[in-house]
Amino acid sequence: MKLLVTGGAGFIGSNFVRHVLRERSDVEVVTLDALTYAGNLANLADVAGDPRHEFVRGDITDAAAVRRLVERGIDAVVHFAAESHVDRSIEDPEVFLKTNLIGTHVLLDAARRARVRRFLHVSTDEVYGSLGAEGKFTEDSPLRPGSPYAASKAAADLLVLACVNTYGIDAVITRSSNNFGPYQFPEKVIPLFVTNALADEPLPLYGDGGNVRDWIHVEDHCAALLLLVDRGRSGQVYNVSASEEHTNRQLTAAILRRLGKPETLIRLVADRPGHDRRYALDAGKLRRETGWEPRRRFDEALEGTIAWYRENEGWWRAVKSGEYRRFYEQWYGGRLRA
Ligand code: NAD
Ligand code: TYD
Repeated sequence: MKLLVTGGAGFIGSNFVRHVLRERSDVEVVTLDALTYAGNLANLADVAGDPRHEFVRGDITDAAAVRRLVERGIDAVVHFAAESHVDRSIEDPEVFLKTNLIGTHVLLDAARRARVRRFLHVSTDEVYGSLGAEGKFTEDSPLRPGSPYAASKAAADLLVLACVNTYGIDAVITRSSNNFGPYQFPEKVIPLFVTNALADEPLPLYGDGGNVRDWIHVEDHCAALLLLVDRGRSGQVYNVSASEEHTNRQLTAAILRRLGKPETLIRLVADRPGHDRRYALDAGKLRRETGWEPRRRFDEALEGTIAWYRENEGWWRAVKSGEYRRFYEQWYGGRLRA
């Protein structure tokens, strides 16, 4: 089987490429990635010499390039490529609509023309919006996105389902909760806080720190995705969650404790506009249909993740220079000084 993995030089995509090449000797992977600020060939360095892996630099909104690639005998598309950071979507929503919605359209169109057998669209729990203290989202919960990022992903999800209905293409949608693990861009809270703490820099905690996220280790997410490439039913949505809810304050305290750093590094800063209060997913459908279970407990997985950033200082120091600095200074500068 030949997979086209879009966004494979990003966080989850690069972990997925590694996962597939390790778990499935019958699979070849072509990675398509534009190498935006979030894409990094260093994330794929350990599979660079693998004869079953090919990297192609290209933009998913470039219809001619995408079509040429998909027509090279691709069996399934696993679509990760996206603008993925909520704070950036608040500052500059347009590129989110272009990449996340138009890019998905371009890929769906090419997949339809080339009669690709399966399209796996990697989406997010953020399309459901925010929960109160009780309950969990199921796949039937209404879509109420609360940020431009979430709205662009929800729009793409609806387009995928419309293409199944209209053109009869074979497509599956996954909606995962917040991922963590190695190679995550340090704009997301776990790698940001771990690397700031390692450098004795402040940890900017938004609002009252009481927002809740449902965490899953990236390897457990990747295992679910690979199962669904084979066993997901077309036109269906699958939530992916390990049911590990933690407030941001609890998470921050756990990171500092493990690193032996003081809580005085925490700065309560101005809240993110429109900040979703709580995410929690019911992943019963995925469990029932595929037998998937998360294999990593949160505490141990967080420990392993922190160790990875400790041991890969060269990776995150390189990433935290350049373009990263510009956004960081602009977004956090005022908050940290206030
Ligand atoms: P990321 O930002 O780390 O990686 C995104 C990748 O897409 C980068 O390599 C980037 O270069 C590439 N890309 C961006 N625009 C592109 C374009 N126009 N053409 C080609 N490549 C382009 O993101 P991530 O955290 O790995 O997320 C991957 C996917 O998973 C996204 O679709 C995201 O919505 C979804 N998701 C993420 C999480 C999470 O917690 N990180 C949770 C659920 C779902
Ligand atoms: P993030 O990693 O950006 O993921 P998402 O917004 O997609 O859930 O943020 C996770 C949580 O951490 C979210 O509630 C916002 C909070 N947060 C902070 O408190 N400070 C920060 O600097 C960042 C980036 C996030």
